[in-house]
Amino acid sequence: MTRASPKPAELVIRWGPGRSTGEGVPMAFATSHEALPRVDAYGSTQAQTIKRGVLAMYMAHPFPQWSTEERARRLAFEICRYKFLGLDQVLPGARLIEVGCGTGMRTMGAARHFGVREFVGLDHSRASLDVARRVADEDGFTRFTPVEGDLFNIPYDDGAFDVVVSWGVLHHTPDPWRGFQEMVRVCRPGGFVALYLYNKYNHWRHNLQKNRVSRLAGEDFEKRFAIAHRLYGTTPVERMTPEEVAYFYDKYCHPHKSDHTYGEVLSRFDQLDLTPWGSFPPTELRDAIGYIQFRDTLQDRFPLRTALSRRLAAAVRWLPRFDGGHPPYKRPSVAHRFFWQGVLAWMGRNGEYSDGSAFCARKPDRG
Ligand SMILES: C[S@@+](CC[C@H](N)C(=O)[O-])C[C@H]1O[C@@H](n2cnc3c(N)ncnc32)[C@H](O)[C@@H]1O
Repeated sequence: MTRASPKPAELVIRWGPGRSTGEGVPMAFATSHEALPRVDAYGSTQAQTIKRGVLAMYMAHPFPQWSTEERARRLAFEICRYKFLGLDQVLPGARLIEVGCGTGMRTMGAARHFGVREFVGLDHSRASLDVARRVADEDGFTRFTPVEGDLFNIPYDDGAFDVVVSWGVLHHTPDPWRGFQEMVRVCRPGGFVALYLYNKYNHWRHNLQKNRVSRLAGEDFEKRFAIAHRLYGTTPVERMTPEEVAYFYDKYCHPHKSDHTYGEVLSRFDQLDLTPWGSFPPTELRDAIGYIQFRDTLQDRFPLRTALSRRLAAAVRWLPRFDGGHPPYKRPSVAHRFFWQGVLAWMGRNGEYSDGSAFCARKPDRG
């Protein structure tokens, strides 16, 4: 990155692309519902409709909305995530960007825990970034830079980041793999890209429910909320926490999503000449056991919350230690993928959503 670093926690509106044209070329990043980025990804009316709808929803309902206590509890999951993606040794001192960071709550604690040099949170929803900035201020985390921009046109130079991550975002865009290519672009040679996408096998029941809501309510996400709550809500609206409300919108009211498979992610890595580095939750059986063992070691600070997780931890304690593995972790075989397809389908039987693994890959070091 050749431009001066912005002051921590100040919202930066980037004008891009700045790759071949240098700085400050006004490309109209979406700073309102009316302004659309003029990049090919939004060339069609359908793509523009998706962009507007997604932006409108996250302007109205930033995601996620966790209490301070919930954020602290979830840090254990993030510590495990970065270990089994093979990034725990890479993050200290690294420059990290989260593409579609939302309220930044998922990554902020991990960025601090691992001691990154800078954590850039890019999102097109200014409302979400306002929350992220507040969270950084509350936590006294000064190495956070919120950037308002579109992920199809990340306003940074090629190779600007050591680590580029995106959790649960690309499947809400008209062209997830184009978005991924843009992530790879801003990753330095020898750096790392990681992503989580919705899983096709996990979502069979959820899709039936979501389609029903859309059929009954049409496009309006507030109407969708009312219908979805009538059909699937378990707590009266007035008693729902901000976290539950944000999840409900994200789950049932979303204007657009696509579902993907592990095989698809791995073949995109191959196409872009990326080396698979790790997955989380780990897709390889020994690493999956290693994850449960490693999580068990964090219990002093982060007690396990469910009876099932405590039982699992107890069950694997007597096995040899599998949690000392180093990246690159083993690529899941076809048999492993097949196994997880079954597990994910089973996990989705009640309409739960958003299960499945994140994957990390390393960009070739050409230098
Ligand atoms: C489901 S939320 C995920 C937030 C965060 N990554 C997390 O896991 O908690 C999706 C986020 O992606 C952002 N997003 C969607 N499309 C985007 C785009 N084209 N450019 C930038 N951000 C986008 C949304 O505004 C929203 O904050």
